[in-house]
Amino acid sequence: MRIYVKTYGCQMNENDSLYMMGILRECGHEIVDDLETADIALVNTCAVRKKAEEKFYGKLGEIQHIRKKKKMIIGVGGCLAEKERERLLSKGVDFVFGTRSYSRIGELVERALKGEKFTYFEDHIDEITSQTPRIISSHHAWVTIIYGCDRFCSYCIVPYTRGREKSRPMDDVLREVESLVERGVREITFLGQNVDAYGKDLGDGTSLARLLDISKDIEGLDRIWFLTSYPSDVTDELIDVVASSEKISKNFHLPVQAGSDRILERMRRRYTREEYLNLIDKIRSKVKDVSISTDIIVGFPGESEEDFKETIRLVEEVKFERVNLAIYSPREGTLAYKNYEDDVSHEEKVRRFQELLEIQKSINRRINESYRGKVVRIIVEARSKSSLMYGRDIRNKIIAFEGNENMVGKFADVKVNKITAGPLYGRLVWLEGSEDDEDKALRRSNSQAEG
Ligand code: SAH
Ligand code: SF4
Ligand code: F3S
Repeated sequence: MRIYVKTYGCQMNENDSLYMMGILRECGHEIVDDLETADIALVNTCAVRKKAEEKFYGKLGEIQHIRKKKKMIIGVGGCLAEKERERLLSKGVDFVFGTRSYSRIGELVERALKGEKFTYFEDHIDEITSQTPRIISSHHAWVTIIYGCDRFCSYCIVPYTRGREKSRPMDDVLREVESLVERGVREITFLGQNVDAYGKDLGDGTSLARLLDISKDIEGLDRIWFLTSYPSDVTDELIDVVASSEKISKNFHLPVQAGSDRILERMRRRYTREEYLNLIDKIRSKVKDVSISTDIIVGFPGESEEDFKETIRLVEEVKFERVNLAIYSPREGTLAYKNYEDDVSHEEKVRRFQELLEIQKSINRRINESYRGKVVRIIVEARSKSSLMYGRDIRNKIIAFEGNENMVGKFADVKVNKITAGPLYGRLVWLEGSEDDEDKALRRSNSQAEG
């Protein structure tokens, strides 16, 4: 069968889809980019905000429009599927499955092909292991190391859609990393909603710090990232191991969500503004040239102008490298939905969003100035919409330059010559494996042979 897969949401969902596609291929199906000619359309959904839901329903409309003209099976999985469940069957979806069942996608598709309409949900994640087939889409791969979330931040639907925290055994994670490297992967990102809680539930000394420490010695693995850190779970050991190796990314993504203690408490985040700021100081004092990025929600119930100003002050004080800004969106079933009235008007939310966006832009521009004229080492990733090639440095800074597809997956040095609030632009000065490089290496070995 020809199967089209569309993914919404976070990296976790992206990665789940890659496993699903791998499993489906192994079952003999073909993964296609073209919805019009597909026999089956699978959508992996997100429910984090209303907007994510709306995007999915727009897509569902498009799929159903095509289905009027030809036979097509529609399967929906992921976080919104967990939230909506049977309700999606009445909207024309043929089968609905949860975030903990994607390794069974082969069987689910078989049932749908027999004409069954059904939902399939499990409470526990079924094992995804180093043996599970997966698609590798580039020189970079995501590796989910901890599933679920136990935090229950009052605004967030994720603990309800993804279930309780469950860490994968470290041996199996390492086997997966090694097999990815054998298949040509050079860069990996360890993933978890709270990646720094990795191992806590195993009770055998497993931790993110240990995993990074061991992974950094895997030959052929050149860069290691980890995402997302929960501020109060960052340990000294983790900071030290990040500082210890050139292979480990110098980027901490530490969602702060708000700058006011009153709002942090209502959000049920487990740190104060001061604790968060102390953590940033500690990271910066130990990890040279580290970049810190964050997520912030504006317009949380009860957020006063004064609370919002505290968020602005925090953003100005920390000078984040990147801020993912979101407008509060009430999520049915969460504590905030039950306990607090969504009392900041939409206009006010948008105003706060824009004000913070502008502030962050000017901070970005200032930070980016420090890159001007510098030669930065990146791994080339892909062609951007503006047709330039781009890659990122070890601090997660994106730099675009003139190049070509043959460069993808290679180390490159780019001299930065243009600054914006977003990406940086530069000129390629060195490419791994380039003639120049080989010439130099040859000259070096010749002179050594002669000497
Ligand atoms: N586990 C991560 C992020 C998970 S969701 C963490 O702890 O930060 C990604 C981001 O979506 C969150 O950081 C938050 O900023 C945003 N988000 C989650 N629920 C939201 C809601 N109801 N409204 C607006 N933004 C939300
Ligand atoms: Fe959501 Fe909080 Fe869990 Fe992050 S830590 S996924 S924001 S509940
Ligand atoms: Fe969305 Fe689920 Fe990820 S709600 S952000 S796809 S965990």
